[in-house]
Amino acid sequence: MKTRVGYSSMQIAIHWATVILIVVQLFSGDAMEAAVRALAEGKAYDITFTRLHALTGVVVLVLAVLRLMLRALRGVPDVPRDGDPRLVKLAEWTHRALLALLILVPLSGLAAWGGGIAVAGDIHQVLVPLLFGLILLHAAAALYHQYVIKDNLLRRMMKPE
Ligand code: HEM
Ligand code: HEM
Repeated sequence: MKTRVGYSSMQIAIHWATVILIVVQLFSGDAMEAAVRALAEGKAYDITFTRLHALTGVVVLVLAVLRLMLRALRGVPDVPRDGDPRLVKLAEWTHRALLALLILVPLSGLAAWGGGIAVAGDIHQVLVPLLFGLILLHAAAALYHQYVIKDNLLRRMMKPE
């Protein structure tokens, strides 16, 4: 993977678009759980939010694949290396785990919804809180860099370089 000075406009656009799409998933997830229950009991359910959840989730998956291709072909900047080496490793692994979950969460959802595999639904429900936990850790670290260390890290995800 090539090391770059900053992220490209495409990489930045994908990053923030994904953030918005994940918020949609957070709010449409309950409707999905209700639909799975209704299906099992042979009852009717509202398809508006199930369609939204499925479609948005697939877009997240496509963007994650595109993002991995951009990482491999164009490269990404190194995470800041001037801090504690253990925190540098934590940042690198958090990025990797986030990317892996942006693939595995929609895939498990698709297997549950499209494939009717009940265990995939259970896996989805385990991976989702893991994804949200890592997002919180990641966002807190970004804000810590920006406002406590004051190294203007957020600029990297705002201005293409
Ligand atoms: C859905 C939520 C989020 C996900 C899945 C996510 C994921 C990622 C990933 C995988 C990277 C590594 C670069 C890449 O491959 O594109 C990254 C970088 C970054 N993210 Fe996020 N992010 C999220 C939300 C946020 C939020 C809320 C903030 C700000 C508060 C933020 C700030 C940053 C910054 C500043 C970088 C660059 C860090 C560096 O270059 O070392 N992210 N993000
Ligand atoms: C990054 C993408 C996705 C996120 C963040 C996400 C998030 C969520 C959330 C928050 C829930 C509520 C349950 C819980 O809190 O554990 C949920 C449930 C569910 N989602 Fe997703 N989802 C995503 C993609 C998908 C996709 C692409 C599908 C397939 C159509 C899908 C199908 C389902 C199903 C079937 C449930 C109910 C699971 C059950 O009750 O067994 N999800 N999702």
